[in-house]
Amino acid sequence: MSPLAELYQEIAACQDCEELAKTRTKVVPGAGAEKAQIVFIGEAPGFYEDQQGLPFVGQAGQFLDYLLNSIGLKRSDIYICNVMKCRPPGNRDPLPTEIKNCQKWLELQLELISPKMIVTLGRYSLAKFFPGEAISKIHGKERRQNNVIYYPMYHPAAALHQQSLRQTIEADMLKIPSILARSEEVEEEEESKPQQLSMF
Ligand code: URA
Repeated sequence: MSPLAELYQEIAACQDCEELAKTRTKVVPGAGAEKAQIVFIGEAPGFYEDQQGLPFVGQAGQFLDYLLNSIGLKRSDIYICNVMKCRPPGNRDPLPTEIKNCQKWLELQLELISPKMIVTLGRYSLAKFFPGEAISKIHGKERRQNNVIYYPMYHPAAALHQQSLRQTIEADMLKIPSILARSEEVEEEEESKPQQLSMF
């Protein structure tokens, strides 16, 4: 069994949030390539995700597939997960303690996958990686830290309900391939730099 599959078993047994553990049908750990270059992180499973144990299988997921397709990618090329691994009942917002309880799973996933690029979709992943910042100001602008590119995007569900956001999210998605390609160039440049000799 792969380390990620082992992690899924641990997540499936999680009882840290009493209410969510009782009310969930299935946990939704994530899905996709275990060695993906890009990880997309949404908010929380909804009704259909909870039924199937898979992320983004509803309407927002169909739009995400369309967006991926626009840059020549399929789900099996990338990894998708959520900040929350269980559905909050009635799709209520997760409580701050629930988000805190769940964050270890996301951190372990990211350690195992070690992606080059993390794309945040929606409020909770934005709050984790860009705390205190407004999506309207920073969407579509990458940041690089410790050799990982962080890239905030609007949530696909928001774009489904607001036509004006649709063009924005489509345009932000189209930037991803060149951002990744540029990061590879930077890495190559760094690797080919002569090592500086230390005099001390
Ligand atoms: N919205 C999310 O943020 N995640 C899902 O898995 C489905 C819808």
